[in-house]
Amino acid sequence: MSEATAVEMLEAEHRVIQKMVAGMSVLAEQLEGGEPVDVSLLESIVVFLRTFADRCHHGKEESFLFPALIRRGVPSQGCPIGGLTIEHQKGRVMVGELADAIRGYAAGEPPAQENLVKSLRALVAFYPSHIWKEDYLLFPLAGKVLTPEDQQELMDKFETVERELGLDVHEGFDKVAAELERKVSGIVSSPKEGERPLHAGAAKSGGASGPVSDVRA
Ligand SMILES: [Fe+2]
Ligand SMILES: [Fe+2]
Repeated sequence: MSEATAVEMLEAEHRVIQKMVAGMSVLAEQLEGGEPVDVSLLESIVVFLRTFADRCHHGKEESFLFPALIRRGVPSQGCPIGGLTIEHQKGRVMVGELADAIRGYAAGEPPAQENLVKSLRALVAFYPSHIWKEDYLLFPLAGKVLTPEDQQELMDKFETVERELGLDVHEGFDKVAAELERKVSGIVSSPKEGERPLHAGAAKSGGASGPVSDVRA
């Protein structure tokens, strides 16, 4: 089995995030249609976005990929790195707004449903556009400027991110995303045959273990 490069691993993480975003879109529709949505399911989305999408995925990009690209001559300001960094910051604010909207919804506050739909829709619009810029602009650029040694060094650093999180981030959050997909659409998602190992440690070890339980409200 050929091992994925660091950049391919980030691309694979995008697919997990997209799965979650697709589920969030369905939940927004359900709420707009007046159907109640399980608060614990909504809270699990916030945990996913904070831990997997931000701390794990954006963390790898900001702490390691972007600096590696800058070392190879990509400008640190403007397009693409400056813009993507600003988008990560925007995303953090939007997830905080979603957490607030969920708290209001759980408390039964009057405008809560509208706020929640607005918040979900904002994130459903945000992630695909951000991911598109990385998949079609940043990652092809990274594939050109990074050497195989850079990619290996990045992969080693990505493993440290996952170890520091102390979670089996990939296995745990892939399950969370698949569970949301199953709940909202009745589709049971399972790994496709021949799918690349997703996490940094997959090719070498079992990665970090332990349940996904980090909730930062
Ligand atoms: Fe990003
Ligand atoms: Fe990304």
